[in-house]
Amino acid sequence: MDSVRFKIKTLFDNYYKLFKGRIDKFFRRFYKHQHQLTSTTASDRYPQLFSETARIFGEANQEKILSFGCSTGEECFSLKKYFPRATIIGVDINKRNLKKAIKKNSYNDIRFYHSTGENIKREGGYNLIFCLSVLCRWEDTKFVHNSEKLYPFEKFEVTVESLASTLLPNGLLVIYNSNFRFEDTATFIDQGFEIMESPTLCDSGFVYKFDRNNNRITDTHAYCIYRKNPR
Ligand SMILES: C[S@@+](CC[C@H](N)C(=O)[O-])C[C@H]1O[C@@H](n2cnc3c(N)ncnc32)[C@H](O)[C@@H]1O
Repeated sequence: MDSVRFKIKTLFDNYYKLFKGRIDKFFRRFYKHQHQLTSTTASDRYPQLFSETARIFGEANQEKILSFGCSTGEECFSLKKYFPRATIIGVDINKRNLKKAIKKNSYNDIRFYHSTGENIKREGGYNLIFCLSVLCRWEDTKFVHNSEKLYPFEKFEVTVESLASTLLPNGLLVIYNSNFRFEDTATFIDQGFEIMESPTLCDSGFVYKFDRNNNRITDTHAYCIYRKNPR
């Protein structure tokens, strides 16, 4: 019996390997509005980035933070350590993640919502927006020279444009582990953003970068914190 099971499993594995590309392509169409497909997260996952953002942001009486792609909530709970007075809004497209986040939440000033434009706008404007390990398709994009079919630049650009419009003047947009550089978007110029260089942050993540034509770039990209200048 075990050997029959083993043979069936091997057959399935071999078929999957053979048709992996087509199978993945078929399933991807159900995730049109989704960026990163996996939900990996952890407590205090980016300590250097969090403390550097807090240092650059400086003192404020009250901050409003958006965690875009908060997964099961750990990012929001961790941010509370660095921004103790903040109200934190976590949004995610995956409702199962949100259920888990809501179950774990014991803070009055952390709230979780489904990631719709309406919910994000209603809770804005924000002083800080974190998009960490969200604006990408990893590891799919590890194996291609051009990302267009997997994750096109336009998808990134449309999302950052709408997020940036909910950021308050002097607010910080933090993007880490994305497939694209924020400074390549029209939003960076049009909404008056500036790169906040930091000597302690040496890269913007391990996810491979592509240019606005979706071609892979290999130079190290070090920027992850951007300030929206007042007009
Ligand atoms: C790898 S996890 C990152 C979680 C957390 N930011 C971190 O870095 O630990 C990516 C998350 O982005 C979410 N996501 C993907 N597309 C999204 C979208 N359009 N709006 C909100 N969340 C999205 C996924 O559901 C997933 O929970």
